[in-house]
Amino acid sequence: MGKEIILEVKNLTKRYGKKTAVNNISFKLSGGDIFGFIGPNGAGKTTTIKCIGGLLEYDGGDVLINGKSNKGFDQALKRSLGYVPDTPFLYDKLTGREFLYFVGRLYGMDKKSLEKKIDEYSKKLEFSDYMDIRSEEYSHGMKQRIIIASSFIHSPDIFLIDEPMVGLDPKSSKIVKDLFKEFSFSNRILFISTHTLSLAEEICNKIGIMDKGNLVYFGSIDNLKESLKKSNLEELFLEITKNDN
Ligand SMILES: Nc1ncnc2c1ncn2[C@@H]1O[C@H](COP(=O)(O)OP(=O)(O)OP(=O)(O)O)[C@@H](O)[C@H]1O
Ligand SMILES: [Mg+2]
Repeated sequence: MGKEIILEVKNLTKRYGKKTAVNNISFKLSGGDIFGFIGPNGAGKTTTIKCIGGLLEYDGGDVLINGKSNKGFDQALKRSLGYVPDTPFLYDKLTGREFLYFVGRLYGMDKKSLEKKIDEYSKKLEFSDYMDIRSEEYSHGMKQRIIIASSFIHSPDIFLIDEPMVGLDPKSSKIVKDLFKEFSFSNRILFISTHTLSLAEEICNKIGIMDKGNLVYFGSIDNLKESLKKSNLEELFLEITKNDN
């Protein structure tokens, strides 16, 4: 067992001009957590993830990874993160294998362990047949699988995944879901923003509900169901966000 991984978001605030997209939110996750981050369109989920991932500067508060702020440019800290954006990017002319190789080398992996990981993830994501085809020929689901592999390849402590299931067919989403489930056995943190409430209900041990920049709920799904007397996450979600239009 290594040291415990802790992600702490403390009074995080992010504004775009006059608009407050994330309003003073705080929560803490630790190794082994699979966190489902849900909320209506425009609630501030993507903004929060980008602040945690160090892609956006924030206006107030702090993001601490194992007690260390993510402000500034700490390479070891950046290496401990994996990030899948909501609008994934691939180089058209690179094959899946070349792309994974490129990303792994950027993270400073040596060739041998990188090749081993590429092999492992192409099998796990049932991607072996497409590895040597250029990404311009990939379908959306294939692109998404290779992007997810690329964020797992350097074995980060914290995975930030924005909308993993959009446009995936049942088979692709099962493959991705099974990969996520494996993480409940590791002591890393998986942070998933999603509109697929059934996914959150199935694999997450904690959820956070964002609404208009505020974190209106954080905790276990079971506690929330109990306190609001609802039987599933969809009912809870609609109850909590019912004043939106
Ligand atoms: N680059 C930007 N410039 C200005 N406003 C922005 C920018 N990005 C996001 N916003 C605004 O910030 C708010 C939060 O947006 P964000 O993308 O974080 O929401 P979200 O919860 O991820 O939504 P969705 O479910 O649609 O992905 C929205 O009101 C949005 O219009
Ligand atoms: Mg978003």
